[in-house]
Amino acid sequence: MTPVLSVDNVKKRFGGIVAVDGLNLEVEPGEIVGLIGPNGAGKTTTLNLITGFLTPNEGRISLNGTEVTGDSPDSISKSGIGRTFQISKPFGRLSVYENLLVPNVSCGPTEQEARIDRLLQELHLEEVRENRADELSGGQKKLLELARVLMLEPDLILLDEPAAGINPALMDDIIDDIQRINEQGTAILVIEHDMSVISELCERVVVMNAGRNIASGTFEEIRGDETVCEAYLGGT
Ligand SMILES: Nc1ncnc2c1ncn2[C@@H]1O[C@H](COP(=O)(O)OP(=O)(O)OP(=O)(O)O)[C@@H](O)[C@H]1O
Ligand SMILES: [Mg+2]
Repeated sequence: MTPVLSVDNVKKRFGGIVAVDGLNLEVEPGEIVGLIGPNGAGKTTTLNLITGFLTPNEGRISLNGTEVTGDSPDSISKSGIGRTFQISKPFGRLSVYENLLVPNVSCGPTEQEARIDRLLQELHLEEVRENRADELSGGQKKLLELARVLMLEPDLILLDEPAAGINPALMDDIIDDIQRINEQGTAILVIEHDMSVISELCERVVVMNAGRNIASGTFEEIRGDETVCEAYLGGT
């Protein structure tokens, strides 16, 4: 099977810092993969490289078997990849509904309206449909961002810390939502520091440290891995 995402020996330098250092990573169609690692490991940089917000110094990135290295974020989102940000960035002065009109969908207006109605229902945003986005709670902003990504019906979505700053009750809803989205056929790569979220969601977990993939396996497997424990505990 062709992986939906293939990151092949990718390197990214910022001046003297090597933020991503020869990273290899694959996501198969329909998989939920967790990407974990200590602060500064290079996780967000990896997402920025995959989505075209940054260009790698070396290596290749392919989506569904087609190389996209160096392509613009706009072109990459059109080839079937969506993302949310570590800090949500909805258009604050627009309503929830208007935010969902922003993605450049390829379907006609009737289907666009139908998608908006369905996503507002599914992501518990129907009640705040006409509210301004900057009036939403932190959790609702994350759900709106997810809805905006799903408007484009991507093959793969990348989530950067969906649990950060979310109250536990809403987090259970978000976990259910992510699972449902995945069951509908979308592959997911999720960065998260909350290990209960990772263990609940992910079939496979990739551990990054200092820009590299240092371990990969089920949550149970990587939890018992000595290299992983050292990376998190700073070798103590
Ligand atoms: N635009 C940038 N310019 C310079 N250095 C950067 C830039 N973006 C990231 N870095 C550096 O690259 C390294 C990796 O950062 P990155 O944000 O990818 O880590 P992360 O794994 O997402 O961490 P966290 O878990 O804290 O979000 C860090 O040393 C960071 O300071
Ligand atoms: Mg980060």
